[in-house]
Amino acid sequence: MAPSMEMRSSTQIFSGKFDFDLGTKVLFGAGRIDELGDLAKRHGYRRALITSDPGIVKAGHVQRGVDSLKKAGLEFALFEEAHENPTTEDVAAGLEVAKDFQPDLLIGLGGGSSMDCAKGINFLLTNGGQVQDYWGVGKAEKPMLPFIAVPTTAGTGSELQSFALISDAKTHAKMACGDKKAAAFCAILDPSLTLTQPSSVTALTGVDAISHAVETLVTTRRTPVSMMFSRQSFQWLAQSFHRVISEPENLEARGCVQFAASLAGLAIENSMLGAAHALANPLTANYDVPHGQAVGVMLPYVVRFNARSVGASYSELENFFSQDTGGPQPGDQLSAWIQQTLREAGLVTRLHELGIPAGRLPQLAVEANQQWTKRFNPVEVGESELFSLYQEAF
Ligand SMILES: [Fe+2]
Repeated sequence: MAPSMEMRSSTQIFSGKFDFDLGTKVLFGAGRIDELGDLAKRHGYRRALITSDPGIVKAGHVQRGVDSLKKAGLEFALFEEAHENPTTEDVAAGLEVAKDFQPDLLIGLGGGSSMDCAKGINFLLTNGGQVQDYWGVGKAEKPMLPFIAVPTTAGTGSELQSFALISDAKTHAKMACGDKKAAAFCAILDPSLTLTQPSSVTALTGVDAISHAVETLVTTRRTPVSMMFSRQSFQWLAQSFHRVISEPENLEARGCVQFAASLAGLAIENSMLGAAHALANPLTANYDVPHGQAVGVMLPYVVRFNARSVGASYSELENFFSQDTGGPQPGDQLSAWIQQTLREAGLVTRLHELGIPAGRLPQLAVEANQQWTKRFNPVEVGESELFSLYQEAF
C-alpha cells in the first residue's frame, strides 16, 4: 500500500518531543490479589486504607484483599462508599476516614470509581485544600502517599493513569485531576476479579475501553508510544470483547480485555482523549447516562467526522475485525463496527433512545464545548460542530 499523507505525518511525530514514563509496575494473573499483603509489606508499609464500593464488598473481593493484608501483618481500614462517578462528597467522606486512620498506603480496590476516589483522597490528605484545587495537571506540590490499584472491572484504565475523575457535587462538572504523584506504583491485574461483574458493567466498561483505544490513537497529543498502546489495545478488544459478552466465565477472554483496557489507560496517560468524551460528559451530568453508553453512542459519529483527517489511522484498526457493512468512506467500517458492538452488548446507538429531548441538544453542545478533552480532537470542534454531532447521533 502506498504511504498516505497521514501515514507520513504519523512518522513525522518522531521529529518532535515526547515523554514516556511507565512508573507503574503491573502484576498480571488470576489469583494475584492474594499477593497484595506481601507486596505492601515488602515495600515497608504498615497501615493500609482500602477504598472500595458496596458491590465489590458484597462480591467478596475486599475480603480477599483484607485477608491478604492481615496475613502479612498489616493494619487496615476500609472506606466502602466510593459511588459511581465519584463526587467531591465521596472524597470528603473518605478523607475523614483517612484522617482518622492515618494510613501510610492507599489501596483502590474496585472499578474506576474506587481507584479515582482513592486518588482524590490522596490529594486532599497529603496536600490539603479541596478537589477543585487539583483540577488540571501537576497541581500537588507536596509528596503524596503510595498507592496500589486493584481493578475489578476492565474499562477505565485508571490503574495505569495519574488522573482522577471527580465530579463537583454541586455543579456536576467532571474534574480531571492529574499528577504523576497520584499514579499507582503497582497495579494488580487479576482477571478473576472481573468474573463477578454484572453483564451491564462488563458491557459499559468494555465499550469505554474501546472508545479509549479509538480516541487516543488520533488525538493531537498522540505519540509513537501512545499509538502503539492504542493499536494493541484495540486489537485485543476487537478479538475478545464479544467473547466476554457471550462467554462471561471465559477467564482467558476476561484477562485479554482487562489487560487491553489497562493499555488503553496508558494510551490516555500519553495521549489524552477527544470529542467523543467531550460529548459524553454532558449526557452523564444531565441525564445520568452511564459513561460507557454515553461515549459509545457518540463515538461512531465522531469517527466519521474525524475520518477526513485521520482516516488512515482508522483504517489500521479496521484490519483487526471483519465488517461487511458500513460504506466506502474512511471510518465507515469502524463506525459501523462500533455500533454493531454496542448492540451486541445490549447498549443503544441513538440519543433519542436514551430519553434525551431534541430541544436540549443546543445546551448540551454548549456544555460539551467546555470540556477539556475536545481540545485534543484531531479535527478542531466548536459549539456548532458539537451540536451537529449530537443531531447526527439523535
Ligand atoms: Fe472513558
